[in-house]
Amino acid sequence: PSRLVIAIDGPSGSGKSSTARGVARALDLSYLDTGAMYRAVAVAFLDAGVAPQDEAGVIAATVAADIQISLDPDDRWVRVNGRDVTTEIREPRVAQHVSAVSTLAACRENLVARQRTLMDADPRGCVAEGRDVTTVIYPDADVRVLLTADPQARLARRGGELGARVNTEQLRDQVLRRDADDSKLVDFTHAADGVHLLDTTHLSLDEVIRAVVALAKEIA
Ligand code: C5P
Repeated sequence: PSRLVIAIDGPSGSGKSSTARGVARALDLSYLDTGAMYRAVAVAFLDAGVAPQDEAGVIAATVAADIQISLDPDDRWVRVNGRDVTTEIREPRVAQHVSAVSTLAACRENLVARQRTLMDADPRGCVAEGRDVTTVIYPDADVRVLLTADPQARLARRGGELGARVNTEQLRDQVLRRDADDSKLVDFTHAADGVHLLDTTHLSLDEVIRAVVALAKEIA
């Protein structure tokens, strides 16, 4: 195909962000982190004093529709309503609220539409990662992959990334509690029809990137 679209889903710590970035670099495609957009909406809600758990969908929809989200195509920054939130979206308080935001149907509809537009923007194609890229946002992607890994491996990876910024309890919240909440939305254990399941527990990042690049080369 003249454009190449690669969709990667997986739970927290499965390596999907690092993998998607590596694949985008290897194949010279743009990269989209759909989770960053949910995190950006969570920041806007927190700024506006809206607690997603408590609000009716209508308010949430209005708020979500008004939020300006901009992502650097080279993945260096994320802005919400003009404000740089690149670091803030990774803070524990955002991780705590983001699943509540992502369960609001109005927010999902709003973001899914934006995500499709962003995925269509680059004429070369793109690599997008998240929870529902392979199933909802872009089921027609040329390559669709679901990454899994044992909980212990995922805790270790996230722990390595976040380092001293979080304690053990915050880490478990960020990985295991968020999985439990997110699995209400998305089935992480079974790959949908046509989606390649890749267990990364015993693979290095490089091996995972190569496996996905190989899948892309098969269809090229
Ligand atoms: O990928 P990341 O951990 O940054 O995603 C943050 C949160 O955004 C997830 O915990 C999930 O609730 C939500 N999300 C989603 N659908 C996506 C990507 C992320 O619901 N496609």
